[in-house]
Amino acid sequence: MSDRLLIVDFGSQVTQLIARRLREAGVYCEIHPYQQVDQTRLKELDPKAIVLSGGPASVIEGEAPAADPAIFAAKVPVLGICYGEQTMAKELGGTVEAGHHREFGRAELEVTAKSALFDGVWQPGDRKQVWMSHGDRVTRLPPGFGIIATSENAPFAAIADEQRKFYGVQFHPEVMHTPDGAKLLRNFALNIAGFKGDWTMAAFKDRAIAQIRSQVGKGRVICGLSGGVDSSVVAVLLHEAIGDQLQCVFVDHGLLRLDEADQVVRLFRDHYNIPLIHADASEQFLKALDGVTDPEHKRKTIGALFIDVFEAEAKKVGGAQFLAQGTLYPDVIESVSFTGGPSVTIKSHHNVGGLPARMNMKLVEPLRELFKDEVRALGRELGLPAELVNRHPFPGPGLAIRIPGNITKDKLDLLRKVDAVYLDEIRKAGLYDDIWQAFAVLLPVRTVGVMGDGRTYDQACALRAVTSTDGMTADYYPFEHAFLGRVANRIINEVRGINRVTYDITSKPPGTIEWE
Ligand code: XMP
Repeated sequence: MSDRLLIVDFGSQVTQLIARRLREAGVYCEIHPYQQVDQTRLKELDPKAIVLSGGPASVIEGEAPAADPAIFAAKVPVLGICYGEQTMAKELGGTVEAGHHREFGRAELEVTAKSALFDGVWQPGDRKQVWMSHGDRVTRLPPGFGIIATSENAPFAAIADEQRKFYGVQFHPEVMHTPDGAKLLRNFALNIAGFKGDWTMAAFKDRAIAQIRSQVGKGRVICGLSGGVDSSVVAVLLHEAIGDQLQCVFVDHGLLRLDEADQVVRLFRDHYNIPLIHADASEQFLKALDGVTDPEHKRKTIGALFIDVFEAEAKKVGGAQFLAQGTLYPDVIESVSFTGGPSVTIKSHHNVGGLPARMNMKLVEPLRELFKDEVRALGRELGLPAELVNRHPFPGPGLAIRIPGNITKDKLDLLRKVDAVYLDEIRKAGLYDDIWQAFAVLLPVRTVGVMGDGRTYDQACALRAVTSTDGMTADYYPFEHAFLGRVANRIINEVRGINRVTYDITSKPPGTIEWE
């Protein structure tokens, strides 16, 4: 049996958090959509334990997604969370009914029995806060199960068949609003299922290297390098696995920050000795962007040209069968949302998603199982420099979406200088690592100023810095006024062409992090 915990996803918004909590406990786990988990897949995955996630469906509706019976025949511990509890109860012979009182948000739970799930955390008689989010509820227990906790609206708030090691909870242990939740998940994985809790980045690295070798064999791999954390980690990991069978291509669209292109070349070609093509396509990009002012149009133009340049460079190399990408776990999970509901495109993010099919290449995606902070940990494990590993995210279309309006070389150069001063001050103040992203925006506005005895009529810029955990929501960073004053002074004194500095205090929502 592998040391893998399988999370069967029924489409909950917070399924990823189950994985995070378990990984924090040193347990290796994978999320798979419920439609794909049948007897055959279970045999392949060979999990040591299974967690059934929550989900938006109702088990009492006709076409409700169900947990495959093979899950309960696998002879491994199973924990059903919310919808997962309900589908488990139904599949094993219990009854689920529509709750007359929906229960959303904080609820108080009363522990009614001892259980291995609660061991060392909760005692019978305890009243504990949990987070509920459900309409339906279990009303008749399947054979073999007993109640271990209740709440006002969920008499079967936690149930257990200790003999078969099947557990169900109506609440969400994976969210922070269930303060003891992480401990319960840990109990399930370590005490009940017998995981050792020894999954580490070093272990991940060794396994990833073995997997890359077995996937690639003697083949050649092309990897697009951007200088960001994800593609850098992919490149160094692949190089460790397959050496010079790896060819990196760095498409330099000229929309990078000051000295960034040189840094990429220095680090990867000179320091790591990774075969690297530096395709300087900045002229081409500037030409393509000439007259393009609409943000979506900019993104599409850059994305399409990026693919063209990359493809042309890769063809020159000749004969690569694989394309490496820095796809992360959240990208993978988002794309298997089973509701498939339409979501509005706020911004079309730039990636090279169309490439593999167009170039007839197979994908190598060694970071598919990792969250962003785990990629950083892997980067550290691989010995990448801290400045790179802790680097703020940078958008694929680069500075083009930080210059509202038409893009020119002069504007890019101006913005690069402003940005460099701003980040220098942030680093000097020791604030870089407290901030999710900080950057400058060149405003399409000229303002009047006075410098010395003369009048100026120059451009204005905006500074932005936000805190965030995932980029989905963000708050502006509360710099001290003295700091902002210092930065503004330096920018106006050092960057000719700028005579006014503003600070953006918009959160997301309603704003977005980037200006375009
Ligand atoms: P927004 O502006 O949508 O940004 O609040 C959220 C995060 O995504 C980054 N971002 C992009 N990344 N291509 C990317 O690779 C893009 O087109 C793009 N647009 C925004 C942004 O920097 C922030 O981290």
